[in-house]
This record gives sequence, structure tokens and C-alpha cells, in this order.
Amino acid sequence: MWAASKLASLRVVVGLALIQATAFAANVDPTVLDSCPGYNAVNVKSKSSGLTADLTLASTGCNLYGKDIQELSLKVVYETEDRIHVKITDPSRKRYEVPESVFPRPENENANSKDANIAFNYTTSPFSFSIYRKSTKEVLFSTASHAIIFEPQYLRVKTNLPANPNIYGLGEHTQTFHLPTDNTTLTLWSRDAYGIPVGTNLYGNHPVYFEHRTTGTHAVFLLNSNGMDIKLNTTNGASTLEYNAIGGVLDFYFLAGSENDPTEVAKQYAEIVGLPAEVPYWSFGLHQCRFGYQNFVDVANVIVKYAAAKIPLETMWTDIDYMDRRRIFTVDPKYFPMPRMREIVSYLHAHQQKFILMTDPAVPYLPSADYAPYEHGHALDVFLKAGNGSESLGVVWPGVTVYPDWFHPKIAQWWNSEFANFYSPSTGLDIDGAWIDMNEPANFCNLPCDDPFQQAVEQNMPPPRTSSPPDPNTPIFTNSSGQVGRRDDFLNPPYAINNAAGALSSKTAFTNVVHANGLVEYDTHNLYGTMMSVATRDAMLARRPGKKTLIITRSTFAGAGAHVGKWLGDNMSKWEHYRVSIAGMLAFASIYQVPMVGSDICGFADNTTETLCARWASLGAFYPFMRNHNADTSISQEFYLWPSVADSARNAIDIRYRLIDYLYTAFHQAHLDGTPVLHPLWYKYPKDANTFPIDLQFFFGDSVLVSPVTEENSTSVAIYLPKDTFYDFNTLAPVQGAGAKITLDNVNFTQIPVHIKSGVVLPLRVRSQMTTTELRKTDFELVVAQDANGNATGHLYVDDGDSIEQKATTTVDFKFSKNKLTVSGKFGYNLGVKVARVRFLNVQAAPKQAVQDGKVCQSSYDAKNKVFDVTLDRPFNQGFVVQI
Ligand code: GLC
Repeated sequence: MWAASKLASLRVVVGLALIQATAFAANVDPTVLDSCPGYNAVNVKSKSSGLTADLTLASTGCNLYGKDIQELSLKVVYETEDRIHVKITDPSRKRYEVPESVFPRPENENANSKDANIAFNYTTSPFSFSIYRKSTKEVLFSTASHAIIFEPQYLRVKTNLPANPNIYGLGEHTQTFHLPTDNTTLTLWSRDAYGIPVGTNLYGNHPVYFEHRTTGTHAVFLLNSNGMDIKLNTTNGASTLEYNAIGGVLDFYFLAGSENDPTEVAKQYAEIVGLPAEVPYWSFGLHQCRFGYQNFVDVANVIVKYAAAKIPLETMWTDIDYMDRRRIFTVDPKYFPMPRMREIVSYLHAHQQKFILMTDPAVPYLPSADYAPYEHGHALDVFLKAGNGSESLGVVWPGVTVYPDWFHPKIAQWWNSEFANFYSPSTGLDIDGAWIDMNEPANFCNLPCDDPFQQAVEQNMPPPRTSSPPDPNTPIFTNSSGQVGRRDDFLNPPYAINNAAGALSSKTAFTNVVHANGLVEYDTHNLYGTMMSVATRDAMLARRPGKKTLIITRSTFAGAGAHVGKWLGDNMSKWEHYRVSIAGMLAFASIYQVPMVGSDICGFADNTTETLCARWASLGAFYPFMRNHNADTSISQEFYLWPSVADSARNAIDIRYRLIDYLYTAFHQAHLDGTPVLHPLWYKYPKDANTFPIDLQFFFGDSVLVSPVTEENSTSVAIYLPKDTFYDFNTLAPVQGAGAKITLDNVNFTQIPVHIKSGVVLPLRVRSQMTTTELRKTDFELVVAQDANGNATGHLYVDDGDSIEQKATTTVDFKFSKNKLTVSGKFGYNLGVKVARVRFLNVQAAPKQAVQDGKVCQSSYDAKNKVFDVTLDRPFNQGFVVQI
């Protein structure tokens, strides 16, 4: 207990200290960089699908953070009509590149540059390049007048941006969704970022940005996992974006996007990073978690109290509390004994509910204790090694720990077997999904480790250096993986990124650790969480072959969404973090292709309040991943604890659950082609500049506009409605948007404003249920939200909700035009429910009748809200037509 609370308080201190943290080595005045001579392009060889060239250092270079590399290779490939791949490497030395095993490259297609929508242009002396959109001749990216710098441990590329640019992405961070471009540094270096302070590097790394203009949206992705600072600046009205990476190569993908539909660029990005994984239907139910449940009785009581409060609880979670002395793959024999925990799991499963447990990567370092997970891993030799060959140590929840080396050839064998043993349905805990955390990887130890508790770690530290460094370019040996050995400074590189933890190895694994395949943690640090994600997904799939699963991770790299979902880490119970959760979620769901995302509802750290928790319960119902989670030292915050919070949760979950099939359909579409699951307003109104900065409203799926109250103690909210027709979700009455803000008053603490965008047919369940299993047995109704021309369309995808390979699926298209709703599709999967009702919105006068396939139906008209309801009683197993 002493150690645990000590560590917890240490983390708090660190979290606060981070805000003031600065770079620990002096970086060069940035203005020097532009005046570096850069490179000249020679031997340019062009062909229809691109070009190659040699880049030779102009004069002696700048030699800022090491010696400039003399000769570089440039390769430009038009991979598709919408994608140009620009890669600059060092031909004399094999530098680190993000391994294909972690980040499979897109199919290496060759397109003809003539057919491309964007083009690559260059100057030879000095070498600079630009990307422009052919149709409008607009320059999208240009390094003109900004020297490219390529040194062993420093790479710099800088582009001009238009005035007042609209840039999104480059996370993970807690900046606004629409990035500030005045003196903003975004640092990519995975970090255990307690309290998620603004302006600091957080858990994940997504070196991609979308730039939106009224003339089109394009994207730039730098495939590089090294630590980097990306600087956005505006000087005398001229804006720039500058990459400063401390290793790897320059591996850029430029995506044309489209002139009219911003979601096209999201789809093109998915072609590179992979399409998001589908998740099971049940995972859209409500999840309850906390750090600090004291024993199995606490856990059981929460389950019972949710049921008593009639708040649907789909999945119960348990944090590290269940572990024996916080050792992974164990249960505390007194507080969370295995038989009682198994009883809880059985109870949940018998009640159509699910169970998820936390698994951390750090394994307690217990060479002489009888602790099988360590012994097995040690025997297979799968833990990260220090330079002297001993296991590299850190300090995490259980004390001194080792870290799995996800590059080790036997790592899957070890991880799968630990998973299979501990999470065995017959003898262990039968989890339905997995929660993985601390995978930056986190370490409570600052560099140098100065806490007595951490002395074991110190013994593993390299001795201080006494001599000056050799030429970083000196090739010395080739190891088994074919990498040329390096003498780079992996602990304190010459360019210090703005890591809020200070030195690179602070609060994480040592960056000079060499993985089993010869790669250095310095280069691969940002991949750790994603690699653990993939390993965990494989372990879960091995346990439940053929079943979709839910894995929620904290640390992600580009492409993680193809395997797992993500929560936004250790936020605090404050209004600012309630607000910023929307920007964070939008970035993951609409830019990074990690759509299964959400924040800790009601806030993780500190104490929540009734009003904050009430508002957050409503907002959280529109996170794709809806989980209430809380820190060990905070007051309890389960939704049933306050009447207003319980009401808010019930009301919003009622809407969410009725919409789950619509959300499931959106996830399926995302999985097919990368269409985002959430949309910022500008995705839908790309010509309306008022929408560009909005990050307190968003579209849940394609057409459901969510506009939460965002200020403490307020019961009103000014929301922006573009020039379009919307419908109030509760009354279904039309609301005409005028391209202006309107104020909604009297939004009490149990409500959240939700509007349906016109032009859609929404398939809803007629009512919510206590579990998603029951929901699947509930009839549908269709809401026809016509647009100004009297048209609407919609889609529904249904399968068994559970299997990866589906035997049969149902895909339905809805089309409303000329007062006729046509429902058609392939009804392979038997839904086993009816369509009970169709609700036609914005019907100006009561229609004489409604006829479904020649049969007059019962109907009623609500003149006030202009809703025409038609009662149906039809099995939802074939198409039909309703004419009004
Ligand atoms: C980390 C996680 C948090 C969890 C805690 C204990 O701080 O981010 O969600 O509750 O560890 O496991």
C-alpha cells in the first residue's frame, strides 16, 4: 500500500510538473534553419509514374545537430490518382524506417502522373518541392525557401501554408480540433500524460494533418515513428508548418482528397493506415469502470445497483485493483478471489452482460518469486534488454518491472499463453474484451531514477560519458537484422524534442534499449502501444476464434485503428476536459481512423460534481466508446449515485441505444472504405467557413448533430446551425438553420440537444432496452427526415453482431422521394423483428392516407410538429414501399 500510494502521489506531482517542463538541451534558433544551404537535385530521372533524383549537399551544410548527410536519394511515386509518395533516404546507410511488420505499406501501385489530381513539382538548386492541386493550380505543400535538413539525428522539412490555414490532426494532443497556427508546437512522443495538459505530448502519435480550404481538403502523412516536434507558426501573416524529427527517414504521403467532400481524404488516408476494425455490437453498450473498487463485493454491488436504477449496463470493468499486488495475470486471493470473480463473470454472462479487465504490459521483475508470467517470459527471453544483456528494468504499478519486447520472435507465444491461461473460460476469468494501458510504455521513474524505491533501476543505467561523441556517420558493423550499427546518442540526442517528461527516457523505457530484432527503442518507442495492441488482439482472437472483440488501448500510432479502439487517457473531472473530449474524439474518429474512441465520462482524476457528471453522461452517450471511469482517490461517480445524473444517463442512453444499429452501420461502412464514423461540421458543410473552427458540436454518424451544453451551471447553449433543415430529435419538429447561431434555452441537466440533419432516413429501434441482446429483439421504426427537395436516403447494415466472418448479412437502402419511401436490399441475415412504424417529418398537411404495398395503413398526423406517423406491422425481411 505504501508503495502504491507513494507512486500514485508521485504521478500527480509529475503530471503537474509537466506543464512547466521545457526542453533540456539548447536547440538552435529556428531562423538559422531557413538559411541553411540545403541540397541540389542532380541525376533527375522522370517517368510517367514519378521520378528519382540524387540530392547532394549544397556547400558544407549547416551541421546543426550532427553532420549533414552528403548524398540523399529522392524517390517520387504517383501511387494512385490521389496519392503521391515522396521518400528521401540516405543511400549510404540503412537508416531506421517504420517496420513493415508494424505498419504494412499500401499496395505499391503506380499511377500515371497525367491522371493524377495532384502533382509534384521541384526546383533543382537549391532543391525544393511542392505539391499542387491540378484542377485549381493551388499549391498545397511547398518547401520553397525552407532548406531541407537531413542529419543522423535530425530531419527538418518546412512548408508554407495559406493565410489563416485550417489544419487538423497531428495528435495526440489537447489543443482545439482546429489547430492554432500561432507559435504552436505539437510533440509526438508517447507519454503517460496524467491530467492531459494542453501543449504537451500525450499517449498517441499520428503524424498526419488534414488541411481544409473552401476549394478542397488534402492531407499530408509523414510515416515516421521517431520523436518529433511539429511547429505551426505565423509570422507577418505568413503561416508555416515545420517537422523536426530526431531520426528515421522522410517518408511523405500526399493525399489529394477532393474539392467538395472532405470525407474523401479520410478514405484515402485509410488506404494507407488501414481500415478500422469492426467491433462487436455489444461494445456500443454502456461500460462502467473505476480504479479503486476495493473488492469483489464492490464490483458486484455496482452491477446490481445499475440494474436497480434501470440504467442499462452492458459491460463491467475492473482495474488493476483485482490483481495480487498489482501483478498482471493474477487475482488478489483475499479481495478478489478467483472463485468469486468467476461468479461475477458468470452472473454477467447469464444476464447478457460482459466483463473486461485491465492488462498492463509491465511484468513484475520477480526472479526469485514463484510468479509464472515472469518465469515464462524470462525463459523465452522476451523482455527488453539493457546494454549489458540483463533485463531492462522500470518501475510501474507492481514495483520494479520488466517490459515485453514486442519485436521478440517468441513474444506472441508468451503473451498468447499468459492470456489463454489467466483468461481461460474454464479455469480463469472469461473476459469479453481487453483493456491495455501504460503502453507508452509508462515508467514511474524519472531519468535519472532518484527515488530509493527505484534503485534497482539505477543499477541498470549506463555510466556517464567521459569522451566526446564520434562522427555519427561512422559505419561500424552490421548486425543480424541488417541494420548498420549506430553511435547515435539514444538518451540525449542533440535536438531535444519538447517532451513534457524531459529526457527521452524519462517516465518510459530506456531509449537505448535494443530490441530482439536489432531495432532501438529510440526509434520504435512510439510504436510500443500499437504493437501491444496487435499482440493483444491476436491473443483475444485466439481465445475466441472467429469472434469480433473489443480492445481498448491508451497508446496508439498511425494505423492502430485497424486493430483496436482507444480511450483518451487520464483526463480530469473538470469542464475544460468535458469540452476538450469532443476535439480529442473527433481527431481520432474523423482523422486518425481510430473510430472506437471515448473519454473517461465524468472525468478520471479529481472529484466530479453532480452537474458535470450529469452533462457528461449525456455527452458520453454520443462517444462511440461510452465508458464511465474514475481514479482511485476520487469520489464514486457511477451514474446511479445522483438522481439528475441517473436521469441524464437514462435519457441519453435511450437515444443511443435506439441508434445503435445506425452506429453499427457507420462502423461497418468505415471498415469497408474509411468513411468516418463521426464528422466535424465542416465535413458536411465544407464551403461554410463558420463551421471550420467548431469543436463543441459534431455529427454522430452521418446525420445526427449533437450540440451539448458546454458551460458549467448553464442551461442554455448557443449552437451553430448551417443553412439547412434540421429536426429536433425529441419532438421531430423542423428547425431551419440560417448559417448562424441560435440559442437553446432551458436545456436542463438531464437533456442534450440532438438534431437530425435533413435528407436522411434513420433506422431506429422503437425503444431502448437494458442490454443490447434485448435491443436486437426490438422492432424498428424509420424516421424519414426529408430535405428541402423532399428527398431522403439512408442505409442499414445488420449481421449477427459477433462473428468476424458472417454467414449472412442484411443490407437495406432507404429512399424517399415524391412522397414515396422505398425500402429495398438484401435480407440475408434474419433480423427476426418488425418494422413497426414510419415517421415522416416536415409533412405540411395531413396526407389523406398512407398506403404500404397497396394496403391502407393506420396513420396519424401531429400538426404541431408536422409529423405523419404510419403504423406498420411488417416483418423486416424484405423490401416494401410506403406512399403518403
Ligand atoms: C492509468 C490509466 C487509468 C487506470 C490507472 C490504474 O492511469 O490511464 O485509466 O485507472 O492507470 O490502472
